[in-house]
Amino acid sequence: MEDSPDDAELATLELARHGYRCESGLVETRHALLAALTSQSWDVVLSDHSMRQFTSLDALRVTRQHDPDLPFIIVSGTIGEDAAVDAMRAGAQDYVLKHNLRRLGPAVEREMREAENRRQQRRTQEALLASEHRLRHAQKIEAVGRLAGGIAHDFNNLLTVIMGFAELLLEQLPRDHGAFRDASEIQVAAQRATRLTKQLVAFSRQQVLEPRVVDLVAAILAMEAMVTRLIGEEVRCQLSLPDEPHFVLIDPGQFEQVILNLVINARDAMPMGGTLQVGLQRAGLDLTRATALDVPPGEYVEVRVADTGTGMTTETLDQIFEPFFTTKPTGRGTGLGLSTVFGVVRQSRGAIDVTTAPGAGSTFQIYFPVSREQAADPEVRTVTEVAAVPGSTILLAEDEESVRVFLQTALERGGHRVIATGSGTEAVDAARAARVPIDLLIADVVMPGLSGPEVAAEIATLFPAMRVIFLSGYSAHSALPEHLSADPSAFLQKPFAVDTLMAKVRERLAG
Ligand SMILES: Nc1ncnc2c1ncn2[C@@H]1O[C@H](COP(=O)(O)OP(=O)(O)OP(=O)(O)O)[C@@H](O)[C@H]1O
Ligand SMILES: [Mg+2]
Repeated sequence: MEDSPDDAELATLELARHGYRCESGLVETRHALLAALTSQSWDVVLSDHSMRQFTSLDALRVTRQHDPDLPFIIVSGTIGEDAAVDAMRAGAQDYVLKHNLRRLGPAVEREMREAENRRQQRRTQEALLASEHRLRHAQKIEAVGRLAGGIAHDFNNLLTVIMGFAELLLEQLPRDHGAFRDASEIQVAAQRATRLTKQLVAFSRQQVLEPRVVDLVAAILAMEAMVTRLIGEEVRCQLSLPDEPHFVLIDPGQFEQVILNLVINARDAMPMGGTLQVGLQRAGLDLTRATALDVPPGEYVEVRVADTGTGMTTETLDQIFEPFFTTKPTGRGTGLGLSTVFGVVRQSRGAIDVTTAPGAGSTFQIYFPVSREQAADPEVRTVTEVAAVPGSTILLAEDEESVRVFLQTALERGGHRVIATGSGTEAVDAARAARVPIDLLIADVVMPGLSGPEVAAEIATLFPAMRVIFLSGYSAHSALPEHLSADPSAFLQKPFAVDTLMAKVRERLAG
């Protein structure tokens, strides 16, 4: 900052004499100073004390606002002692008198060194604060996890009792008894509660996992159709996957659950449409990054799920992994999706990182340690590979969205036409409106409203040749009409694998 070009020239010559090759810019207004500060990075600001439009104190203020560490040295012919002291108090590093310019070189050298120290210190302090924050956060999640795990354990025992007695009641009651319905409702509610406690168990990392060596590239590819269907028409889906396989030791069913939860969240964050990106790559985590993520450094497979949706504030971000934290309206979200993701990933020795800002979308990065082994069992069966008896029309009634989408995807890949519905009532309506005969009904046993068996009874008259498969969360057959509960081959017990499903479908259609 200097309104005399000659004086500016003298200062740069002096620095050159001291051994600096300098690149300099000369400004003399506040506006020009701001523009210069933002246009590139500088090592030091040299400022005259009183200029026509400006004083060194003004220049100092502008500089400090821009960068608290940038060295600021006053180079003046006239500055008095009082003014110099004021300037130093306000944060100037030094002052050099124009008739004693020889001091400039050493002053610049010293201040650049000190500034680097200050920056280093600031970075260290910031890193310390961040790691304190992470530690507190991890301790909190740990405590909540223990609490949730404890509650889930006790609740599971209670729920076993509740479901068991409801089942006993149902066995003793004739179907037309008024209390039969009431007992069924107990059963439905207890099943819901079981689903919730399962998620809590997952969060507390006490889930029984069945890890296998899985190629995540193939696993994601196998989910593509399901993902596309889940996100709807308004959202574009971009997969960026490498050609070669990437092996990781993980429970494949749980990996699928992780991706589904992230995808559903991404979809919910983009009600007006947008782009969903799912990517995978190998990533080396160095000590700093690994420590920040609380995993050992090394080679990882990174799976990235990114959306262009609403994004999150820092306050929201701080809480997303806590069980029951949701910003969705009552009835829409339970707040257990990301808790489950967190539990599964951590239990699989992985890490999660989230980058987000309000209005800027969100990116979830998940890291799993690279498996040294290749898949021992290379025929990781995907939906595509299962042989099909194509061409049947299948009516699907399943209230849980992810299960429904999974079923529809698998069945369509198998070459069948699928009418998917989310409740018993919807299924009956769809059957009445169907223009082709329905060959097979696949229905959840317990759904709110009409149950699977009730749907079957309702539409059996419309399609006398129709076969039925009931999906059941547990082995109770008691809620079924006599003639059906007598036929165990009509059952498929959840959870089931794709090949089991397709085999059952073939068997029922042929039978
Ligand atoms: N991709 C995202 N974009 C913006 N906000 C998100 C995203 N993913 C999660 N969130 C925020 O984190 C909260 C918690 O997510 P989480 O999946 O745990 O529960 P949920 O989606 O609200 O309910 P649930 O998954 O149990 O149906 C969400 O309510 C939302 O505020
Ligand atoms: Mg969710």
